[in-house]
Amino acid sequence: MKIRQSGMPEESMWREFFEPQTTLIRLGLNRQCVDVAEFGCGYGTFTIPAARIISGRVKAFDIDPIMIEATRSKTTAEGIDNVDVKLCDFVGNGTGLADESIDYVMLFNILHGEDPHELLYEAHRILRPNGIAGILHWNHDPATPRGPDMMIRPKPEQCRAWAIESQFHTDALSPIIIPPYHYGWMMKKPKR
Ligand SMILES: C[S@@+](CC[C@H](N)C(=O)[O-])C[C@H]1O[C@@H](n2cnc3c(N)ncnc32)[C@H](O)[C@@H]1O
Repeated sequence: MKIRQSGMPEESMWREFFEPQTTLIRLGLNRQCVDVAEFGCGYGTFTIPAARIISGRVKAFDIDPIMIEATRSKTTAEGIDNVDVKLCDFVGNGTGLADESIDYVMLFNILHGEDPHELLYEAHRILRPNGIAGILHWNHDPATPRGPDMMIRPKPEQCRAWAIESQFHTDALSPIIIPPYHYGWMMKKPKR
């Protein structure tokens, strides 16, 4: 089931909202990350920059064939060979990735869905101990030029609480500010 209000505007508009490489680095993605999963790759806005940062592969999932094709064609055009793009409904079905097989999960502009815990549980399941879930979301501010309705748009403290309820850990009490319109969290899967 497609997550509510997860449709995309024109790509030319969407890409104006982000500085993907800086955002990824601020959210803890680095060369030590080998296996990376992305829940809802959209146009590949973050997929391609992530593939350039890490030393392994990005496994990018989306339910929308148009988004899959957009991301796949970028990998071809830019000569990126470490991205696996997969058409998949991760709501209900999960990602199909093995337990504890991933170093970093990207949950970007997706936690306003019907059941954020379901996505966080799946992220937790596939992450290795000490793995990181990077959360990015629109500021809780009606003045942003896009973003889900304020009724369903999570506040930063709400994302933090959901992650902790899903067995993630952070000492951070404040979100990472990602100008101009976003905030983020780095959530760690603790060692057992
Ligand atoms: C708001 S967009 C964000 C895209 C990307 N994460 C970004 O920030 O640029 C959300 C994406 O999630 C995808 N999506 C929504 N529901 C999904 C589901 N159940 N399974 C897989 N992908 C889904 C949508 O097709 C869309 O491309």
